[in-house]
Order: sequence, then C-alpha cells, then structure tokens
Amino acid sequence: MHAVDYIRLKRDGGHLSEAQWHDLIERYTDGHIPDYQMSAFLMAAFLNGMADTEMVALTDAMLHSGVVLDLSDLPGQKVDKHSTGGVGDKVSIPLAPIVAACGVPVPMISGRGLGHTGGTLDKLESIPGFSTSLSIEAYRKQLAEIGVVMIGQTDDIAPADRKLYALRDVTSTVEFVPFIAASILSKKLAEGIDALLLDVKFGSGAFMQAEKDARHLAETLVGVSERFGKPAVALLTDMDQPLGCAVGNWPEVAESVMLLRGEAPEDLMEVTLALAAEMIVAGRKASTIEEGTAQAREAIRSGAAFERFKAMVTAQGGDPSVVDEPGARMSRAIAADVHAPADAHGFVARIDALDVGRAMIELGAGRRTKEDDIDPLAGCVLLKRQGDPVVPGDVLARVMASTEAHLARAVADVARAYRYAPTATSPDSRIRDRFSNGRWEGRMTAK
Ligand code: URA
Repeated sequence: MHAVDYIRLKRDGGHLSEAQWHDLIERYTDGHIPDYQMSAFLMAAFLNGMADTEMVALTDAMLHSGVVLDLSDLPGQKVDKHSTGGVGDKVSIPLAPIVAACGVPVPMISGRGLGHTGGTLDKLESIPGFSTSLSIEAYRKQLAEIGVVMIGQTDDIAPADRKLYALRDVTSTVEFVPFIAASILSKKLAEGIDALLLDVKFGSGAFMQAEKDARHLAETLVGVSERFGKPAVALLTDMDQPLGCAVGNWPEVAESVMLLRGEAPEDLMEVTLALAAEMIVAGRKASTIEEGTAQAREAIRSGAAFERFKAMVTAQGGDPSVVDEPGARMSRAIAADVHAPADAHGFVARIDALDVGRAMIELGAGRRTKEDDIDPLAGCVLLKRQGDPVVPGDVLARVMASTEAHLARAVADVARAYRYAPTATSPDSRIRDRFSNGRWEGRMTAK
C-alpha cells in the first residue's frame, strides 16, 4: 500500500494489520514516507482510535525498527524507569545513579521534551559536553564499568521512536494512549532490561490529566510490557503542580545535584525514593520497599550516588566541575523576579503545572517546531509553593534565560500560574497508587 492508502484507511476508521504497521513504520524510519504524510496519518489515528492489537503491532514495529539489545552477559538484574511526562520531573537524573550505587545496573534510554513537558535528554545535554548519543559498544561498556548509562534513541536503538517522537511533539498528537505506550515501550524493551518501573502521572501537567485516564494508561503500559516478557510495576503520581522547585533544563540538573547532596524539596525526594526503592527491589538487591528506601537514602547520605552521577557525566563527555558548582553556571543567566499581584492575599493554594510548562516552552526551554533550539539556561525556580503565606509584592519565583528576549512575558505567565486561598493547605503525598500483577493496591491518598 502507498502512504496515502494507509492515511485513507485510518481516516475512514479502519484497522491496519500487523504486517501493515511494520511496513508503515519501516518505510517512515528509512525516509521513504515523508513527515507530512506521517503527520496526517498520526492525526487520523489519534482522532479515530486504534484497536489493542494495533497498539501491540505498533509497539513491535517500533521496537524492531532498530536493534534489540541483549545484556544477559552482564551481571545483575538490569532495571529501568520511565515517566509518562511532567513539569519539573527531573527524577530520572538523580534516580539512575542512586539505584546504580545500590548495585542495580540502570541502562536508560530517554526522550526529549514533549509538548509542555521537559525531557531527560534535553536536561542532560544542558551539561556542557554531555553526549546522549553513544554507540552500542560504548553503551554496553559504560554499563559494565559504572553501572549506569543514559542515552537517547539512536539510529540503532528505537530509531522509529526518535523520528515519531519529534513529529508528535509538533503535531499535537502526544496525548493518546496507544502512541504513548508504543513510544515508551519500544525504547524500554530495546534496552535489554529485566524489569521496568513506570511513573504514570495525572493532573494538569500530565498528558493524561484525569486520574481515570492515567490509571488506564498505567494498566496498558504494564500489560503490554508483560506481553513482551518484561515484568513491570506502575506508580500513579500526582502532577497537578510542578515537581520540586526548578523547571527548565539546567535549573533541573542543578536541583538534581541538590537531591544527590540530600537537599531536595520534599515532594521531589518522596517520588525519587519511592521509585528507587521499587527499582532496588526489582533488581533483587532488597527484599522489601522499606529496605530499598533505606539503601537509597544511604547512597545519598554517603555521597556514593553523587559520585556515580559524576562518573557517568565524565564517561559521557560532560564537564564534572560544572555539576560540582551548579550555582556558578546559573549565575550566568539573566534573571527576573515574579511578584505576587495586588489581589494575592492569604496562601498559595496551588501552582498550575500546565501553565508553568507552557510558559517555559515560550521562554525557550522547549520546542514549538522540530528545528527550534533549546536555551539550556531557560527556566524558573518556584520560591513560594503550596501552603506558603503571600502578600502583594512578595517574590513568588525567579525566571531566567540566556537572553532577555522573552523574560517579561515569562514573568507574567508564571505569575498567572499561581492560585491563592484564604487558608493554608499542605500538599498531599504525590504517590497515589501502585499497579502490579494486574491489580491496584488502592494504597493511599492524602497525608
Ligand atoms: N514519554 C515517551 O517516551 N513517549 C511518550 O509518548 C510520552 C512520554
């Protein structure tokens, strides 16, 4: 079939066979189907839906668009984590070295910023010299030597996701369960892992804003992963407000360094430790979550996790002295304060994650077209957070960027993300539930 026939089939609500999905993905990946036809196809599928069998076929086609690694000759249970995307979600950056320092190898393949959410690759590349594009040989060698490696999709590993991810980002075709599942799992299943942890987010800053949709996404991700023979666990986490205080690429690396030094905001530390404990258990280095949490805390306290992070930065060409002094780099940015408006009396009720995410894209921390350059310093630090008292004129946040071009607008946008209430509320736990072995624990909610 020609590309136009696939587009027509989906436009008219039809289903592609397994062989047709493979053909479509293969021809798009090798450049025979242009972006404009794939964009039309993506939108047709987004609007008309896909059968579960099509989602599995798409995942398989994207997975086999490149090499599927076998790391079974390296010792240990290899475990990775993936987030469905959020604002201020820098967790992968401190998490991978913490888990590696506890003896569990972490081979991680991540993505770039998508929609209003930040991406681990863009964040890591804000470290001068850091390369997220390694050969398979270098990836294996680094994993064997230091137990942690963080790269992106390459020409060899999940190349279809590399192209489709960039195209979905700029064609408004991100928030669709079959595409998210195929995108995440094609990368993760190609890595050679033994088990997978999924951080599935809901709330304003997540792609699945409604909790019930996020639960469906979690069930789908775990189900498809298991179908491909990889055990998976999903944590359902709240992304209604930015995670931690920093949003933007270098600002989030700086906050990750703070976490590795034991000084992170409580919500960021909570999510990181919860995921670390799960990964340490999945990696068979602890038998309970409590034991896993204690090991993760000790890896931070002893400095072992930070040392592991610096070893990874050095191995991937980054400048380790920059991560020793993240504040020095930040001081090169041009900064402006966000002040509380005249009607801001009482307490911060919440900070809308989507508003902040969109403001940061406009500032240059993300892309509006595939060709857009990222400003690594662009971002903000939220100084007042939920429950903090406010009077008009207070400094709520600081916005920064390499140039002044969009700073004034970002100041106004971040101010609008703040909501106020006459009484103080304290934030709930970010971890809302856990899905494994086909069931929800129904674990929690408010603190
Ligand atoms: N993360 C991914 O890797 N892909 C998506 O589609 C969404 C989040």
